[in-house]
Amino acid sequence: MSDVLVDVDGLKVHFPIKRGIVHDRTVGYVYAVDGVDLAIRRGETYGLVGESGCGKSTLGRAVLRLSEPTAGRVVFDGTDLAQLSGEPLRRMRRRMQMVFQDPLSSLDPRQSVQSLLVEGLRAHELDRGAEATAARLRELLDVVGLPANALRRYPHEFSGGQRQRIGIARALTVEPDLIVADEPVSALDVSVQAQVLNLLEDLQAQFGLTYLVIAHDLAVVRHIADRVGVMYLGGIVEEADADALYTEPRHPYTRALLSAIPVPDPEVEDRREQILLTGDLPSPAAPPSGCRFHTRCPWRQPSRCDTERPPLREIRPGHRVACHYAEDIAAGRITAPTGLSASRG
Ligand SMILES: Nc1ncnc2c1ncn2[C@@H]1O[C@H](COP(=O)(O)OP(=O)(O)OP(=O)(O)O)[C@@H](O)[C@H]1O
Ligand code: SF4
Ligand SMILES: [Mg+2]
Repeated sequence: MSDVLVDVDGLKVHFPIKRGIVHDRTVGYVYAVDGVDLAIRRGETYGLVGESGCGKSTLGRAVLRLSEPTAGRVVFDGTDLAQLSGEPLRRMRRRMQMVFQDPLSSLDPRQSVQSLLVEGLRAHELDRGAEATAARLRELLDVVGLPANALRRYPHEFSGGQRQRIGIARALTVEPDLIVADEPVSALDVSVQAQVLNLLEDLQAQFGLTYLVIAHDLAVVRHIADRVGVMYLGGIVEEADADALYTEPRHPYTRALLSAIPVPDPEVEDRREQILLTGDLPSPAAPPSGCRFHTRCPWRQPSRCDTERPPLREIRPGHRVACHYAEDIAAGRITAPTGLSASRG
């Protein structure tokens, strides 16, 4: 058995931009995901981060085969999902579930918690008679930390954190192998965020789950992710073990994202590198040539950065970076223009 559960290979998801009275003319494409290779190992948590619109949700949906790839493939546990249809696809889908950002919008407000969970069980034929179902529902509530009387209540009667627990319980009804959690705590208060992330970690240990956790904020995935991939305009620009990514970021974009997170220790905070990005995030419908980040990169070098797209290459075992000059920047051989990258001390 390979230790890779999900293998994403050369994945592209392009959305046509339609114009005309009956939307019959394609005038361009949104390059939402544009050439992504990544592997998610069994039992790990892969954190995927990047700014709004960089393609995180589209990538997550393609992994679950909810978005159709334009090119490339997603191999789940050795099977190319594109080869499946009908019953085999349905059976494969049972092994992967999604947890959404806003549990209220993904939970039907007119359904009681009991009926939401039973629906999940039935959809996958795990409903084994009234008594077994009742026992399973009590067990599900228990593992996500909700009281047994929650079954008769409705989603709006719960707090945001509790609703997210309902969403997680619902994902668990089918005993999945993979959970794609798309911004699972973004809508929650900071104090509640940690509780939900801890719950996800406990469940992973208990059930051997594999996670793809999507967030726009590097701080959110820091404690939960084993490995982190940073996305920018449809591509992964850096991927590493979480510790290495946070302590030795090598892509200018990752460095800029990290430099925006304040550090609690005032002395460290004073010395913290601050990288100010120039320019706006370009549109994924008109991505820049060459390195997609060159329009905002303080270290960009003439001609090569504008014309040649840097491949994601391994700079040391397990650490991949898509920057032509990652080593030169780290060694100080290329410095950013004054004012763009400056220590605060
Ligand atoms: N079904 C669709 N049809 C057309 N364009 C789409 C569709 N889904 C996403 N897009 C576009 O693709 C790009 C990537 O969107 P996506 O939702 O994957 O980004 P994201 O990183 O999840 O952003 P956010 O942090 O805001 O959730 C955006 O420009 C978005 O408008
Ligand atoms: S390839 Fe050039 S523009 Fe892109 S991140 Fe590296 S230095 Fe910056
Ligand atoms: Mg999203």
